[in-house]
Amino acid sequence: MRVHIRTIRRLTLQHAGQHAGERTRRRIRRHGPARVAGALSVALLCTAAVSAPPAAAQASHTPASRLPGGLAQTPPMGFNNWNSTHCRAEFDEGMVRGIADLFVSKGLKDAGYRYVNLDDCWALPERDADGRLVPDPQRFPHGIKAVADYVHGKGLKFGIYTSAGTRTCNENGFPGGLGHETSDARQFADWGVDYLKYDNCNNQGVDARQRYRTMRDALKATGRPIVYSICEWGENRPWEWASDVGHLWRTTGDIDDSWSSMVGILKRNLPLAPYAGPGHWNDPDMLEVGNGGMTDTEYRSHFSLWSMMSAPLLIGSDLRRATPETLTILGNKDVIALDQDALGKQATVLTSDEGRWTLVKQLANGDHAVALFNETGEAQTIATTAQDAGLPQADRYLLRDLWQHRNSHTTGTISANVPAHGTAVYRVSVRR
Ligand code: GLA
Repeated sequence: MRVHIRTIRRLTLQHAGQHAGERTRRRIRRHGPARVAGALSVALLCTAAVSAPPAAAQASHTPASRLPGGLAQTPPMGFNNWNSTHCRAEFDEGMVRGIADLFVSKGLKDAGYRYVNLDDCWALPERDADGRLVPDPQRFPHGIKAVADYVHGKGLKFGIYTSAGTRTCNENGFPGGLGHETSDARQFADWGVDYLKYDNCNNQGVDARQRYRTMRDALKATGRPIVYSICEWGENRPWEWASDVGHLWRTTGDIDDSWSSMVGILKRNLPLAPYAGPGHWNDPDMLEVGNGGMTDTEYRSHFSLWSMMSAPLLIGSDLRRATPETLTILGNKDVIALDQDALGKQATVLTSDEGRWTLVKQLANGDHAVALFNETGEAQTIATTAQDAGLPQADRYLLRDLWQHRNSHTTGTISANVPAHGTAVYRVSVRR
């Protein structure tokens, strides 16, 4: 079966390369050759190889039940290498250890960052004779358990990646978990994995709910508490069915290190506020802060808006080369406190008027966070009031500016002159 699929993949990729161009290659990467090959009228070629889904995906499973409880009661915080390295050689055990060291020495662990996660390309393209995934010996000469042990030794958690398909997403990627859920989950648990990101490429058209539940059940069967991150890019509206499957689900396609990508994702994630809560979060993808494609003002907006949306805060830049400003943004405890607030309410949009946005987020102690976000290319005065932001009637309110770290008082108006692409964020309390 695997051989057939690989042959089909190669033939279909060739076909796509010759006749259909990059768009088709992307679809093959995402869905696997089976579905795309159908569209390319090579169905006959495919029928024998892919008509039956892998055995484990066909098996019946116990009814929905959550993973061992208590995880991700606030959005996961940590690091993932993908946005900074993709599959380049610099992604290796030295990098992972270096990030764990910096989490401690730069105060990021203290600020709440816990998970140090590997993305695609950590393994070899083939399983071993026993069907086990094999760490790439160039990148991880001491194996995955050694690097997990190192991370754990720093008081941190360790995460890994695979795909709910026959192969992972990158063309130099490795065999995916579809049909191997039980043994892959066991292997991860044996290594001491605390977090699994489960991608969607080469899924052979098998139903997403079924694929993601099968891995959930396999993780649960290991008995190890593992945060389960569903990464199917919002294609199957996971916010409607995944709250008892995973702890977080991607809501969109991949972010890139640009203002337009960040704002586009923001606009798709904002309307999903009702679906987020403790243990089940919308995931608008990992942070780009520090990767160089946006200004520091734009990165402050990115970090503010992700925190307002109770998004997972997974650092996506190589901290070994971080500027002081990057570390200041990522280490802003006042803003992180919004993301990590115990109530777990994603911000909602109060107003949006020609690129001037006001967002409000209810907090556990009765305070409200208000973000004044300027999407436009000119400085703008953006304003709202404490009452409009949902605070109870009062004579005076305390405003804490979470980037300036300064307090002031207001009788109700919350207003700022916000630079182009900037965001002012306030924590608003009834004055006690
Ligand atoms: C997909 C995911 C990304 C990343 C890559 C790895 O595109 O959405 O976040 O994991 O695969 O190949």
